[in-house]
Amino acid sequence: WHFAPLVIVILGASGDLAAKKTYPSLFSLYTSGLLPKQFKIIGYARSPKTIEAFRGHVGKYLSNDNDKLRFLQNCEYINGQSYGDEDAFRTVNEAIQNFSPVANKLFYFAIPASTFAVSAKTIKNTVSGEGWLRIILEKPFGHDLESCRKLTESLAESYNEESLYRIDHYLGKEMVQNLMTLRFSNLYFSRLWDTQSIAAVLLTFKEPFGTDGRGGYFDKYGIIRDIIQNHLMQVLCLIAMEPPVKLDGSSSDQIRTNKVNVLKAIEAIKFEDIILGQYEGYRDDPTVPDDSTTSTFCALKLHVNTPRWEGVPFILKAGKALDERKAEIRIQFKDAPGASFMFDSPCPRNELVIRLQPREAIYIKTNVKTPGFSSQPVQSELEVDYNTRFGASDSKTNPDAYTRLILEVLRGRSAGFVRKDELEEAWRIFTPLLHRIEREKVMPQIYPQGTRGPEHDVKVEEWGYLRNSEYVYYNGSVV
Ligand code: BG6
Repeated sequence: WHFAPLVIVILGASGDLAAKKTYPSLFSLYTSGLLPKQFKIIGYARSPKTIEAFRGHVGKYLSNDNDKLRFLQNCEYINGQSYGDEDAFRTVNEAIQNFSPVANKLFYFAIPASTFAVSAKTIKNTVSGEGWLRIILEKPFGHDLESCRKLTESLAESYNEESLYRIDHYLGKEMVQNLMTLRFSNLYFSRLWDTQSIAAVLLTFKEPFGTDGRGGYFDKYGIIRDIIQNHLMQVLCLIAMEPPVKLDGSSSDQIRTNKVNVLKAIEAIKFEDIILGQYEGYRDDPTVPDDSTTSTFCALKLHVNTPRWEGVPFILKAGKALDERKAEIRIQFKDAPGASFMFDSPCPRNELVIRLQPREAIYIKTNVKTPGFSSQPVQSELEVDYNTRFGASDSKTNPDAYTRLILEVLRGRSAGFVRKDELEEAWRIFTPLLHRIEREKVMPQIYPQGTRGPEHDVKVEEWGYLRNSEYVYYNGSVV
């Protein structure tokens, strides 16, 4: 693909997602020499704009260097009445044909999901030429099982599954991509990765800000759909799945099939196994209804009913307007046998922590003798901090998730994208719960902004994860 001409068409080019994520990611691929020599980017949207105004708009989010001007020279803009406007899409096709009739074509849907199906159909009816045609889509993929199925079916009328790349940007994060290597290339993890040794798995997503102007979208959606059903479940699948035989692109469907098998082994979440919260002041957002019962925090427990994971609780926790920005995976091991007889003070459990953000790190909470005269254990850590170990994390050494994922699409590797059956299984697990919450208008507990959310430690401990409140993470200085 690297030697063939490439056209990227961005639908919704004048919107936020395109300007803040899509164009900067393409720019980053360009400056890293990862786009073909011969490429063109066509932005398509409804608002009329001159090419200068459009380039000015997109350029605001690109770092200011010489490459920027050269990159923008390759960016065109075409506007049309709608995403079903065949005449306008024919103009797009002409631009593609004039550039090269044999170009590979990548369509990026930075548009509302309600226009996915019509856009796919219009492309099908108007775009021609040799070379492959691939489509990138991003959530929301429906709001429950039924709407997701409808969307999948309507897309399938125009394009087959192999052409569709559904982005979950968590699959593009360094530490998520690292999970395979970590699990399957380290004997001491692969041997301990099951119910014999693991007591609980905790996945956490925390953000220190609220809806931040996205209240209108968020209120219809809520934290379960926004973060848990997609991002955290994808991470869970990679933690819980059985090993694939090979990790290269050719095994993509094996990886996705193994992930689906994890989802199939999870029952629909029970209402008793969740804690819901809403941050104080959420309803003050003018785009949020005054009586909104949408949750901005949720903690829940589920089980993966496979021989490997029998009895192990998976606890998923996500919240907005909390005390910090953090996304991490915690694998808590069972108590070391005999330790309770040997030591006078309690011996905390080992825990493998994989920090996705901020500042990628992996550490194992490890018990050591308290230095000096005492012989009692104290919890310390064995750690790989990515910044210290592998150098500065700039966009070249640690590219943004979107940049990595777009490159995967160009390479035709679909392992890091969500297949339709994965999507449906994930919705199956959450749909009954979401419907009940909505039907009964369940009121979440209100929590102050900037805190850890509504009280949940007792419940989480009941579920099986023990928090060692004595432990203080060592961040480079002795505390
Ligand atoms: C998005 C959600 O998918 O992920 C947002 O819609 C959230 O609500 C974002 O803020 C978080 O992504 P990241 O990469 O900053 O953790």
